[in-house]
Amino acid sequence: MAGQIPTQFIDDLLTRVDIVDVIDPRVPLKKAGKNLTACCPFHNEKSPSFTVSPDKQFYHCFGCGAHGTAIGFLMEYDQMSFPESIHELADLVGMTVPTTQTLSNTPAKQNLYELLDKVSQYYVHQLHNHPQKAEFISYLERRGLSAKIIDQFNIGIAPDGWDNVLKTFGTSQQARQQLDEAGLLSSNDNGRTYDRFRKRIMFPIRDRRGRVIGFGGRVLDDSAPKYLNSPETPIFHKGNELYGLFQARKAHRKLERIIIVEGYMDVIALAEHDVTNAVATLGTATTPEHLRQLLRSTPEVVFCFDGDRAGREAAWRAAENALPLLGGNHQLKFMFLPDGEDPDSLIRQQGAVEFNNLVAKAQDYSDFFFASLESRVDISSMDGRSRLVEIAKPYLRHIPTGVYRDMLEQQLADRAQTSTSVLHKHLEKPPETRQRPIYKKASSSANNAISPVRMAITLLLQHPKLQQDLGPFDKIATLELPGIKILVQILETLHQNPHLNTAALLERSRGTDSAEHLQRLAQQILPLTAIELKHELVGIVQQLQKQAVEQRKAYLELKHPSQLTDEEKAEIRNQYH
Ligand code: UTP
Ligand code: MN
Repeated sequence: MAGQIPTQFIDDLLTRVDIVDVIDPRVPLKKAGKNLTACCPFHNEKSPSFTVSPDKQFYHCFGCGAHGTAIGFLMEYDQMSFPESIHELADLVGMTVPTTQTLSNTPAKQNLYELLDKVSQYYVHQLHNHPQKAEFISYLERRGLSAKIIDQFNIGIAPDGWDNVLKTFGTSQQARQQLDEAGLLSSNDNGRTYDRFRKRIMFPIRDRRGRVIGFGGRVLDDSAPKYLNSPETPIFHKGNELYGLFQARKAHRKLERIIIVEGYMDVIALAEHDVTNAVATLGTATTPEHLRQLLRSTPEVVFCFDGDRAGREAAWRAAENALPLLGGNHQLKFMFLPDGEDPDSLIRQQGAVEFNNLVAKAQDYSDFFFASLESRVDISSMDGRSRLVEIAKPYLRHIPTGVYRDMLEQQLADRAQTSTSVLHKHLEKPPETRQRPIYKKASSSANNAISPVRMAITLLLQHPKLQQDLGPFDKIATLELPGIKILVQILETLHQNPHLNTAALLERSRGTDSAEHLQRLAQQILPLTAIELKHELVGIVQQLQKQAVEQRKAYLELKHPSQLTDEEKAEIRNQYH
């Protein structure tokens, strides 16, 4: 991934940028010894476990495990793409990103954002100025929307007609192509191109940062399709976006809970009644990506569904998608509305108090999970209970190991009237997902838990300058030890670029298999003094080099002299005698 922008440029950028200047304006930091801390912006917490290290140019949260460089921070916090965050940082320190092929993508995306913003303003303008606006306005009134809410959600209208947008914005071939790329056009079999959205109420869809990325458009009558949405475009991916999240985040400094509903109109009707913490998926199921985003903004997510069969099925799909995110510091809940109601109809008829009552009575994830599974078996018979275990098993496997999973297993055992030990005999061992313990004492020989190779990688990542103190390491690539390739690569990189810092080293691994692993090592705590660090690293590299030389020697000695090549003979003469 990083390959598209010259690595050299990223290295330079990361030595000039100070991560503190990037994070502090977004998340005010407090000094704490060598580091700076704050309450973590990626999960909800009361005491600060988010730490920024100016030395390593790296942030890390001890609470949720979020971590990364200045580039990574912008990608996570501002939801920027990799090239976007590079551009942002370059702007900050007055550098110009060298343009390469793929980078021309970024301005193209920027143009799409600008175009969609203008079109959104156009739709709003039409709502207030179009000669046929009355029909639309009376529809919005019938749906109980006030001017304030219409304004807040930037609701507009696409007037009747085939080419309102096309004519207004498609003034050149290039402009028409952009309209198409932004998802605003349709074409028929004869190749005729026209406005995708015609005679519809227009709901602009914004990303977390508030940029318009697409639209949902509703008809005024019961013709079909009731809602038409933007297609997937370079900047609009339905599985990632949530309608109303921008507004909800804006309305609350801290969101104690977010309610996920099914429709645009539900979000808006709830906001109209001062329930300003609802978001909607865009006609899709709630994906794990949706949930990840939500759990960064709030500790509690309540899924709100219709009480009918379709609603229950949708809820179960959401529950399945939530499995990898269970546990931790957050809660997932389910609420069901009376049959035939949606949040819009319910709140309009019964008011916010009643709606909030239902929210307060939402079912815990585990209750919904077991109730759904038990509805499929006859829990009163032994056969039914063993079947319950069978059908629950595949789900449990997707839950991260931890207290929550243990407790669900316990509950499954209770409900099946068996014990967790019986259960465990039949449950597959989960893959280990927890972090390995932070080690106590680092000593290459005495500590079996951490291999010297891993220790050396960790030391180099955290203190790249130590590379300059090392003796020769040219032979160690021949050792067949786990991680040796990574170590050699880091050594060589630092040999050629002695000025690189931790962040730059990590960015070089972006997109490779080892990226995650290296990030973890970079944030491990080494309880060693500066001198000890140096001795440790020098010792390990010396030891590895020696080991490699000996292995090579042994290998050559094993060979019959007649089998030795001329180079090998020379090698023996020059190096081992
Ligand atoms: P619903 O059909 O439940 O509509 O669709 P609603 O929210 O109650 O709408 P109103 O009250 O009749 O105006 C829920 C969501 O499903 C998607 C939209 O995202 C909608 O908000 N949907 C629905 C479509 O994408 N296309 C459709 O034709 C219908
Ligand atoms: Mn509705």
